[in-house]
Amino acid sequence: MIKSIGVVGAGTMGSGIAQVSARAGLSVVMQDVTDEFLSRGLLTIDKSLQRDVDKQRLGLDEKQQIVSMIKPTRDLADLRDVDFVVEAVTEDLTVKLDLFRRLDQTVRPNVILSSNTSSISITRLAATTSRPDRFIGMHFMNPVPVMKLVEIIRGVATSDETYEVTRCLAEAMGKTPVEVNDSPGFISNRVLMPMINEAAFALYEGVASPEAIDQIMRLGMNHPMGPLQLADFIGLDVCLAIMNVLYDGFDDSKYRPCPLLKKYVDAGWLGRKTGRGFYQY
Ligand SMILES: NC(=O)c1ccc[n+]([C@@H]2O[C@H](COP(=O)([O-])OP(=O)(O)OC[C@H]3O[C@@H](n4cnc5c(N)ncnc54)[C@H](O)[C@@H]3O)[C@@H](O)[C@H]2O)c1
Repeated sequence: MIKSIGVVGAGTMGSGIAQVSARAGLSVVMQDVTDEFLSRGLLTIDKSLQRDVDKQRLGLDEKQQIVSMIKPTRDLADLRDVDFVVEAVTEDLTVKLDLFRRLDQTVRPNVILSSNTSSISITRLAATTSRPDRFIGMHFMNPVPVMKLVEIIRGVATSDETYEVTRCLAEAMGKTPVEVNDSPGFISNRVLMPMINEAAFALYEGVASPEAIDQIMRLGMNHPMGPLQLADFIGLDVCLAIMNVLYDGFDDSKYRPCPLLKKYVDAGWLGRKTGRGFYQY
Protein backbone atom coordinates (compact mmCIF):
# COMPACT_ATOMS: atom_id res chain seq x y z
CA MET A 1 0.00 0.00 0.00
CA ILE A 2 1.40 3.37 -1.04
CA LYS A 3 0.54 5.93 1.65
CA SER A 4 3.26 8.49 1.12
CA ILE A 5 5.08 9.80 -1.90
CA GLY A 6 8.23 11.81 -2.51
CA VAL A 7 8.06 14.27 -5.42
CA VAL A 8 11.43 15.67 -6.51
CA GLY A 9 11.19 19.00 -8.35
CA ALA A 10 8.49 21.57 -7.54
CA GLY A 11 8.21 23.07 -11.04
CA THR A 12 5.39 22.88 -13.57
CA MET A 13 5.10 19.08 -13.41
CA GLY A 14 6.32 18.37 -9.85
CA SER A 15 3.81 20.76 -8.27
CA GLY A 16 1.00 19.20 -10.33
CA ILE A 17 2.04 15.67 -9.33
CA ALA A 18 2.23 16.73 -5.66
CA GLN A 19 -1.26 18.22 -5.96
CA VAL A 20 -2.94 15.15 -7.48
CA SER A 21 -1.12 12.90 -4.99
CA ALA A 22 -2.32 14.91 -1.98
CA ARG A 23 -5.82 15.04 -3.42
CA ALA A 24 -5.73 11.24 -3.62
CA GLY A 25 -5.04 11.20 0.13
CA LEU A 26 -1.28 10.51 0.03
CA SER A 27 1.08 12.40 2.27
CA VAL A 28 3.59 14.17 0.05
CA VAL A 29 7.17 15.27 0.60
CA MET A 30 7.97 17.76 -2.19
CA GLN A 31 11.69 18.49 -2.61
CA ASP A 32 13.46 21.18 -4.64
CA VAL A 33 16.79 22.97 -4.40
CA THR A 34 15.68 26.42 -3.21
CA ASP A 35 12.93 27.86 -1.00
CA GLU A 36 11.95 30.11 -3.89
CA PHE A 37 11.17 27.15 -6.18
CA LEU A 38 9.26 25.44 -3.35
CA SER A 39 7.19 28.57 -2.63
CA ARG A 40 6.41 28.95 -6.33
CA GLY A 41 5.31 25.30 -6.49
CA LEU A 42 3.07 25.71 -3.42
CA LEU A 43 1.56 28.89 -4.88
CA THR A 44 0.75 27.06 -8.14
CA ILE A 45 -0.98 24.31 -6.14
CA ASP A 46 -2.90 26.85 -4.07
CA LYS A 47 -4.13 28.72 -7.17
CA SER A 48 -5.13 25.52 -8.95
CA LEU A 49 -7.12 24.24 -5.95
CA GLN A 50 -8.67 27.69 -5.40
CA ARG A 51 -10.08 27.55 -8.95
CA ASP A 52 -11.86 24.35 -7.93
CA VAL A 53 -13.16 26.01 -4.76
CA ASP A 54 -14.43 28.98 -6.80
CA LYS A 55 -16.23 26.61 -9.14
CA GLN A 56 -17.68 24.78 -6.11
CA ARG A 57 -15.97 21.54 -7.08
CA LEU A 58 -14.04 21.54 -3.79
CA GLY A 59 -14.78 22.79 -0.28
CA LEU A 60 -12.45 25.31 1.37
CA ASP A 61 -11.79 22.90 4.24
CA GLU A 62 -10.98 20.13 1.72
CA LYS A 63 -8.55 22.47 -0.02
CA GLN A 64 -6.83 23.23 3.28
CA GLN A 65 -6.69 19.52 4.07
CA ILE A 66 -5.03 18.79 0.68
CA VAL A 67 -2.48 21.59 1.10
CA SER A 68 -1.63 20.36 4.61
CA MET A 69 -0.70 16.94 3.15
CA ILE A 70 2.25 18.50 1.25
CA LYS A 71 5.49 19.01 3.11
CA PRO A 72 8.02 21.14 1.20
CA THR A 73 11.72 20.56 1.81
CA ARG A 74 15.18 21.32 0.41
CA ASP A 75 16.63 18.24 2.08
CA LEU A 76 16.51 15.04 0.02
CA ALA A 77 17.00 13.06 3.27
CA ASP A 78 13.40 13.99 4.19
CA LEU A 79 12.31 11.41 1.58
CA ARG A 80 13.80 8.57 3.64
CA ASP A 81 10.42 7.21 4.83
CA VAL A 82 8.30 7.63 1.67
CA ASP A 83 6.72 4.59 -0.04
CA PHE A 84 7.19 5.75 -3.66
CA VAL A 85 9.15 8.46 -5.52
CA VAL A 86 8.31 10.48 -8.63
CA GLU A 87 11.17 12.53 -10.07
CA ALA A 88 10.22 15.69 -12.01
CA VAL A 89 13.41 17.75 -12.16
CA THR A 90 14.88 19.57 -15.16
CA GLU A 91 15.21 17.46 -18.35
CA ASP A 92 18.99 16.98 -18.14
CA LEU A 93 20.61 13.54 -18.15
CA THR A 94 23.51 14.51 -15.83
CA VAL A 95 21.18 16.12 -13.28
CA LYS A 96 18.83 13.12 -13.29
CA LEU A 97 21.64 10.52 -13.05
CA ASP A 98 23.17 12.33 -10.07
CA LEU A 99 19.78 12.66 -8.39
CA PHE A 100 18.85 8.99 -8.85
CA ARG A 101 22.21 7.88 -7.41
CA ARG A 102 21.46 9.94 -4.30
CA LEU A 103 17.82 8.85 -4.13
CA ASP A 104 18.91 5.21 -4.33
CA GLN A 105 21.02 5.77 -1.19
CA THR A 106 18.24 7.70 0.58
CA VAL A 107 15.01 5.70 0.26
CA ARG A 108 14.32 2.17 1.55
CA PRO A 109 15.47 -0.65 -0.76
CA ASN A 110 11.93 -1.82 -1.61
CA VAL A 111 10.71 1.64 -2.67
CA ILE A 112 9.95 2.18 -6.37
CA LEU A 113 11.71 5.08 -8.09
CA SER A 114 9.92 6.65 -11.07
CA SER A 115 10.79 9.40 -13.54
CA ASN A 116 8.52 11.85 -15.34
CA THR A 117 11.13 12.37 -18.08
CA SER A 118 9.73 13.27 -21.52
CA SER A 119 12.56 11.70 -23.48
CA ILE A 120 15.42 10.18 -21.49
CA SER A 121 15.75 6.39 -21.55
CA ILE A 122 14.14 4.80 -18.48
CA THR A 123 16.49 1.82 -18.86
CA ARG A 124 19.50 4.14 -18.71
CA LEU A 125 18.25 6.00 -15.60
CA ALA A 126 17.39 2.68 -13.93
CA ALA A 127 20.88 1.31 -14.57
CA THR A 128 22.41 4.02 -12.40
CA THR A 129 20.58 2.65 -9.35
CA SER A 130 20.88 -0.64 -7.44
CA ARG A 131 17.18 -1.37 -8.16
CA PRO A 132 16.53 -1.40 -11.94
CA ASP A 133 13.65 -3.84 -11.33
CA ARG A 134 12.00 -1.22 -9.08
CA PHE A 135 12.39 1.62 -11.56
CA ILE A 136 9.74 2.85 -14.02
CA GLY A 137 8.64 5.84 -16.11
CA MET A 138 5.54 7.80 -15.06
CA HIS A 139 4.99 10.33 -17.86
CA PHE A 140 2.30 12.75 -16.72
CA MET A 141 0.88 15.34 -19.13
CA ASN A 142 0.73 19.10 -18.60
CA PRO A 143 -1.33 20.45 -16.80
CA VAL A 144 -1.20 17.45 -14.46
CA PRO A 145 -4.42 18.14 -12.49
CA VAL A 146 -6.40 18.34 -15.77
CA MET A 147 -4.89 15.73 -18.10
CA LYS A 148 -6.05 12.14 -17.62
CA LEU A 149 -3.20 10.26 -19.28
CA VAL A 150 -0.14 8.81 -17.58
CA GLU A 151 2.15 6.93 -19.94
CA ILE A 152 3.72 4.17 -17.85
CA ILE A 153 7.08 3.17 -19.31
CA ARG A 154 8.66 -0.15 -18.54
CA GLY A 155 12.47 -0.20 -18.65
CA VAL A 156 14.09 -3.42 -19.80
CA ALA A 157 14.49 -4.59 -16.17
CA THR A 158 11.22 -3.23 -14.70
CA SER A 159 9.44 -6.05 -12.81
CA ASP A 160 5.76 -6.94 -13.27
CA GLU A 161 5.16 -6.09 -9.61
CA THR A 162 6.65 -2.60 -10.08
CA TYR A 163 4.40 -2.08 -13.09
CA GLU A 164 1.29 -3.21 -11.16
CA VAL A 165 2.01 -0.99 -8.14
CA THR A 166 2.60 2.01 -10.44
CA ARG A 167 -0.52 1.34 -12.49
CA CYS A 168 -2.65 1.17 -9.30
CA LEU A 169 -1.06 4.36 -7.99
CA ALA A 170 -1.83 6.25 -11.21
CA GLU A 171 -5.45 5.06 -10.99
CA ALA A 172 -5.66 6.12 -7.32
CA MET A 173 -4.58 9.60 -8.51
CA GLY A 174 -7.60 9.60 -10.84
CA LYS A 175 -5.47 9.06 -13.95
CA THR A 176 -5.70 6.61 -16.83
CA PRO A 177 -2.42 4.69 -17.10
CA VAL A 178 -1.33 3.32 -20.47
CA GLU A 179 1.54 0.82 -20.72
CA VAL A 180 4.46 1.44 -23.06
CA ASN A 181 7.89 -0.16 -23.45
CA ASP A 182 11.00 2.00 -23.23
CA SER A 183 11.88 3.43 -26.64
CA PRO A 184 12.91 6.95 -27.78
CA GLY A 185 10.01 9.40 -27.32
CA PHE A 186 7.85 6.59 -25.86
CA ILE A 187 4.52 6.81 -27.75
CA SER A 188 3.25 10.31 -26.98
CA ASN A 189 6.26 12.23 -28.28
CA ARG A 190 7.14 9.73 -31.00
CA VAL A 191 3.78 10.36 -32.64
CA LEU A 192 3.24 14.02 -31.67
CA MET A 193 6.66 15.54 -32.38
CA PRO A 194 7.07 14.30 -35.98
CA MET A 195 3.61 15.78 -36.68
CA ILE A 196 4.72 19.15 -35.29
CA ASN A 197 8.02 18.84 -37.20
CA GLU A 198 6.14 18.06 -40.43
CA ALA A 199 3.91 21.11 -39.90
CA ALA A 200 7.11 23.19 -39.51
CA PHE A 201 8.46 21.68 -42.78
CA ALA A 202 5.21 22.58 -44.58
CA LEU A 203 5.55 26.16 -43.33
CA TYR A 204 9.27 26.21 -44.25
CA GLU A 205 8.46 25.09 -47.79
CA GLY A 206 5.74 27.73 -48.13
CA VAL A 207 2.95 25.20 -48.57
CA ALA A 208 0.61 27.20 -46.31
CA SER A 209 0.59 29.91 -43.64
CA PRO A 210 0.79 28.98 -39.91
CA GLU A 211 -2.88 29.94 -39.52
CA ALA A 212 -3.91 27.74 -42.47
CA ILE A 213 -1.88 24.73 -41.24
CA ASP A 214 -3.40 24.98 -37.77
CA GLN A 215 -6.92 25.57 -39.09
CA ILE A 216 -6.73 22.49 -41.31
CA MET A 217 -5.69 20.29 -38.40
CA ARG A 218 -8.30 21.81 -36.05
CA LEU A 219 -11.27 21.69 -38.41
CA GLY A 220 -10.27 18.70 -40.51
CA MET A 221 -8.84 16.37 -37.88
CA ASN A 222 -10.76 17.69 -34.89
CA HIS A 223 -7.56 18.51 -32.99
CA PRO A 224 -8.33 21.03 -30.22
CA MET A 225 -5.19 22.99 -31.15
CA GLY A 226 -3.19 23.18 -34.39
CA PRO A 227 0.35 21.69 -34.36
CA LEU A 228 2.16 25.05 -34.61
CA GLN A 229 0.08 26.61 -31.86
CA LEU A 230 0.72 23.50 -29.75
CA ALA A 231 4.48 23.73 -30.45
CA ASP A 232 4.45 27.35 -29.22
CA PHE A 233 2.64 26.18 -26.08
CA ILE A 234 5.12 23.34 -25.41
CA GLY A 235 8.18 25.46 -26.24
CA LEU A 236 10.12 25.19 -29.51
CA ASP A 237 13.33 24.37 -27.61
CA VAL A 238 11.56 21.40 -25.98
CA CYS A 239 10.21 20.27 -29.39
CA LEU A 240 13.68 20.51 -30.96
CA ALA A 241 15.30 18.62 -28.06
CA ILE A 242 12.76 15.79 -28.42
CA MET A 243 13.23 15.63 -32.22
CA ASN A 244 16.96 15.28 -31.58
CA VAL A 245 16.29 12.43 -29.13
CA LEU A 246 14.27 10.64 -31.86
CA TYR A 247 16.86 11.42 -34.56
CA ASP A 248 19.80 10.18 -32.44
CA GLY A 249 17.88 7.35 -30.78
CA PHE A 250 16.70 5.73 -34.02
CA ASP A 251 19.58 6.95 -36.20
CA ASP A 252 16.94 7.51 -38.86
CA SER A 253 16.74 10.58 -41.16
CA LYS A 254 12.95 10.55 -41.03
CA TYR A 255 13.25 12.30 -37.64
CA ARG A 256 15.51 15.12 -38.97
CA PRO A 257 14.50 18.35 -37.17
CA CYS A 258 13.13 21.01 -39.52
CA PRO A 259 15.71 23.80 -40.21
CA LEU A 260 13.02 26.40 -39.47
CA LEU A 261 12.53 24.94 -35.97
CA LYS A 262 16.31 25.14 -35.39
CA LYS A 263 16.45 28.71 -36.70
CA TYR A 264 13.65 29.88 -34.41
CA VAL A 265 15.32 28.26 -31.39
CA ASP A 266 18.63 29.95 -32.34
CA ALA A 267 16.75 33.28 -32.50
CA GLY A 268 15.33 32.71 -29.02
CA TRP A 269 11.81 32.45 -30.48
CA LEU A 270 10.76 29.64 -28.17
CA GLY A 271 6.98 30.15 -28.29
CA ARG A 272 4.59 31.58 -25.72
CA LYS A 273 7.19 31.75 -22.97
CA THR A 274 9.35 34.24 -24.92
CA GLY A 275 6.47 36.08 -26.62
CA ARG A 276 7.32 34.76 -30.08
CA GLY A 277 7.43 31.40 -31.81
CA PHE A 278 5.45 30.43 -34.89
CA TYR A 279 3.09 33.19 -33.69
CA GLN A 280 3.60 36.47 -31.84
CA TYR A 281 2.05 36.88 -28.36
N1 LIG B 1 6.41 20.80 -18.90
C1 LIG B 1 5.83 19.81 -19.59
O1 LIG B 1 4.93 20.02 -20.41
C2 LIG B 1 6.25 18.38 -19.34
C3 LIG B 1 5.38 17.34 -19.70
C4 LIG B 1 5.75 16.02 -19.42
C5 LIG B 1 6.97 15.76 -18.81
N2 LIG B 1 7.81 16.79 -18.49
C6 LIG B 1 9.08 16.45 -17.82
O2 LIG B 1 8.96 16.75 -16.44
C7 LIG B 1 10.23 17.12 -15.91
C8 LIG B 1 10.12 18.48 -15.23
O3 LIG B 1 9.70 19.42 -16.20
P1 LIG B 1 9.02 20.81 -15.75
O4 LIG B 1 8.37 21.35 -16.98
O5 LIG B 1 8.23 20.63 -14.49
O6 LIG B 1 10.32 21.69 -15.43
P2 LIG B 1 10.44 22.99 -14.52
O7 LIG B 1 11.65 23.71 -14.99
O8 LIG B 1 9.14 23.70 -14.41
O9 LIG B 1 10.77 22.38 -13.06
C9 LIG B 1 11.91 21.66 -12.76
C10 LIG B 1 12.23 21.84 -11.28
O10 LIG B 1 13.27 20.93 -10.93
C11 LIG B 1 14.08 21.57 -9.97
N3 LIG B 1 15.37 20.90 -9.92
C12 LIG B 1 16.39 20.93 -10.81
N4 LIG B 1 17.41 20.16 -10.39
C13 LIG B 1 17.03 19.61 -9.21
C14 LIG B 1 17.64 18.72 -8.29
N5 LIG B 1 18.85 18.23 -8.51
N6 LIG B 1 16.95 18.38 -7.19
C15 LIG B 1 15.71 18.87 -6.95
N7 LIG B 1 15.07 19.71 -7.78
C16 LIG B 1 15.73 20.08 -8.89
C17 LIG B 1 14.15 23.01 -10.47
O11 LIG B 1 14.57 23.87 -9.45
C18 LIG B 1 12.72 23.25 -10.93
O12 LIG B 1 11.91 23.78 -9.89
C19 LIG B 1 11.21 17.06 -17.08
O13 LIG B 1 11.85 15.82 -17.09
C20 LIG B 1 10.29 17.22 -18.29
O14 LIG B 1 10.84 16.63 -19.45
C21 LIG B 1 7.48 18.09 -18.72
